[in-house]
Amino acid sequence: MDQIAPAVKATPTLPDAQTVTSVTHYTDRLFAFRCTRPLSLRFRSGEFVMIGLLGDNGKPLLRAYSIASPSWDEELEFYSIKVPDGPLTSRLQHIQPGDQIILRPKPVGTLVLDALLPGKRLWMLATGTGIAPFASLLRDPETWEKYEQVVVMHTCREQAELTYGRNLIEALPDDPLIGELVGDKLLYYPATTREDGKYTGRITDNLSSGKVFADLGIALLDPATDRAMVCGSLAFNLDIKKVLENAGLNEGANSSPAEYVVEKAFVD
Ligand SMILES: Cc1cc2nc3c(=O)[nH]c(=O)nc-3n(C[C@H](O)[C@H](O)[C@H](O)COP(=O)(O)OP(=O)(O)OC[C@H]3O[C@@H](n4cnc5c(N)ncnc54)[C@H](O)[C@@H]3O)c2cc1C
Ligand SMILES: NC(=O)c1ccc[n+]([C@@H]2O[C@H](COP(=O)([O-])OP(=O)(O)OC[C@H]3O[C@@H](n4cnc5c(N)ncnc54)[C@H](OP(=O)(O)O)[C@@H]3O)[C@@H](O)[C@H]2O)c1
Repeated sequence: MDQIAPAVKATPTLPDAQTVTSVTHYTDRLFAFRCTRPLSLRFRSGEFVMIGLLGDNGKPLLRAYSIASPSWDEELEFYSIKVPDGPLTSRLQHIQPGDQIILRPKPVGTLVLDALLPGKRLWMLATGTGIAPFASLLRDPETWEKYEQVVVMHTCREQAELTYGRNLIEALPDDPLIGELVGDKLLYYPATTREDGKYTGRITDNLSSGKVFADLGIALLDPATDRAMVCGSLAFNLDIKKVLENAGLNEGANSSPAEYVVEKAFVD
């Protein structure tokens, strides 16, 4: 019997392809998107994966991205910079619902709850897109079950750059899954460094000067009870490590949990 030709020509499928389901632009430098989740992908909230597009040479062009959605979510969310001449993000910023991206389902990373010793107060310290892994952890019930208080310090140059994190954090108390767990445990300290706002100044300075403790009416850092997760530029990560070490906190890892953990938000 003659073979019948398919009515629609199949489009070439990408390796490890996932489909974009929504895209939200926040500024001319920042956007977030959601995509389908591979059935094989299991991850711990706070981990990162490699994602990307097919390059002009036909090979995958991949970059590390923190998964911004929590581990229970049936979709995946990412929060991204737009680097005007960046090999990946100059193109990724134009994705639309229905488009495909490449996602390697091999999650890794140190910003996981297991890499910290048990504690009472958890600090999430982020600059710029470094808020992404915390967007995942803040929506994970385990974070709220493990800690009595969670303090989120997010600092950007300008107010508009805080919007993604602010929207997410302000919605937490009303979240049907974790709203009750969050209760009054959440303290949010959004600050800008190059524009006025309720809070201003670098995270390092606001911790070292004691301003954040005074503003929020909370106790100083205590290595017996405080745990911290850090995600920002290399310069920020190096400077904040000194602040945390001065307060008596030691750096941990998956293999040896301690009082704080660090991940780069990007490579300079
Ligand atoms: C562990 C890890 C997790 C990461 N998670 C994220 C994430 O969740 N969201 C995200 O947007 N990026 C993240 N990045 C950065 C990401 O891997 C890419 O660098 C970014 O997508 C830009 O890719 P590109 O090819 O356009 O430019 P690249 O050639 O990769 O970068 C060009 C330059 O742009 C600047 N740059 C790159 N990324 C950023 C950024 N996020 N914020 C500010 N400046 C930046 C740097 O100066 C860099 O040298 C992560 C990086 C690492 C190492
Ligand atoms: N954000 C923008 O509007 C903008 C626009 C065009 C290009 N870029 C480029 O994009 C890259 C990343 O910019 P970004 O704004 O996302 O990230 P960033 O330069 O790392 O700044 C993000 C926040 O981190 C603070 N910070 C930087 N270094 C720190 C340190 N060592 N200790 C404590 N806090 C620190 C910054 O404060 P300070 O303001 O005090 O540095 C700012 O509030 C840069 O190369 C920049 O030139 C940024």
